[in-house]
Amino acid sequence: MAIDNILIIGSNGQVGSALVHYLCDIYGENHVIASDLREPEQCPCRFEQLDVTDAVKLAGIVRKYKITQIYHLAAILSAKGENDPLSTWDLNTQTYFNILEVSRAHHVKKIFFPSSIAVFGEHVNREKADQWSYLMPTTAYGLSKAASENWSNYYHIRYGLDIRSLRYPGIISYQSMPGGGTTDYAVDIYHKAVLNEAFTCFLREDSTLPMIYIDDALRATVNLMEAPEKQISIRTSYNLSGVSFSPEEITAEILKIYPDFSVSYQPDFRQKIADSWPKSIDDAMARLDWGWNPEYDLTKMTKTMIEHLNEKYQLHAHA
Ligand code: SER
Repeated sequence: MAIDNILIIGSNGQVGSALVHYLCDIYGENHVIASDLREPEQCPCRFEQLDVTDAVKLAGIVRKYKITQIYHLAAILSAKGENDPLSTWDLNTQTYFNILEVSRAHHVKKIFFPSSIAVFGEHVNREKADQWSYLMPTTAYGLSKAASENWSNYYHIRYGLDIRSLRYPGIISYQSMPGGGTTDYAVDIYHKAVLNEAFTCFLREDSTLPMIYIDDALRATVNLMEAPEKQISIRTSYNLSGVSFSPEEITAEILKIYPDFSVSYQPDFRQKIADSWPKSIDDAMARLDWGWNPEYDLTKMTKTMIEHLNEKYQLHAHA
């Protein structure tokens, strides 16, 4: 059986920079093409400079490498998106239409579209958001994701495109810094702890949000993409759960390793965004359809993050 040729769009971002290595390990570096606005310092596979608003260039890359799968990871996130809601909507949705149309024209077999907990808002069960919750997002980012989920379903029904999608919780990773999200504090806090610096949190201490460790997020993504088509019953986007915690709970966990770590709280505009999101997610459909089961709880994630960040900063110090 021929191996797919996979294009990652947004390969420098928080998910992309980890996914590129993960996919190269699985499919081989000759079958993965990374793309982003700027060339990264290191890349395990071929890289193409791509501004995904440029549909002509995108089509050229798809033709050149006979691309059969696209992972579309480029987007403006929830907090940054509020600086300019209309541009956020334009960028997030127009780039997706480019991908959908190029995929249709060039017979791309599978597309991965990342949605988010940001699709939830008013009238959601905050204790355990149901798969079929009413979607009334409060951010431009959330609106673009909720609309795009429905366009995914539309392209599947209308044109038979095999689009698969997850509503990612906040992703915790060490490979790169996230940019512009409301859940970013939970990455930044680990960096400050490892660097022996005090941390000022932009959310309240009791703001519980759904999160997921990067290894779980990558495993969920590829498991979904590799699942037999008949097992995929949701063509908008699957609820996905990892671990839920608040700033005070993650701090308590870090204090077990760094007892002198100091955290203060200065909630800003991002608090309102966090307050509109659920605290935890019901991912029963992902478990049922393709066997999802997360492996990282808060303790395991904290230990792993701190080990990786220590390694990263020591390497830098000695470089
Ligand atoms: N992590 C994202 C954000 O905070 C949510 O998808 O915007």
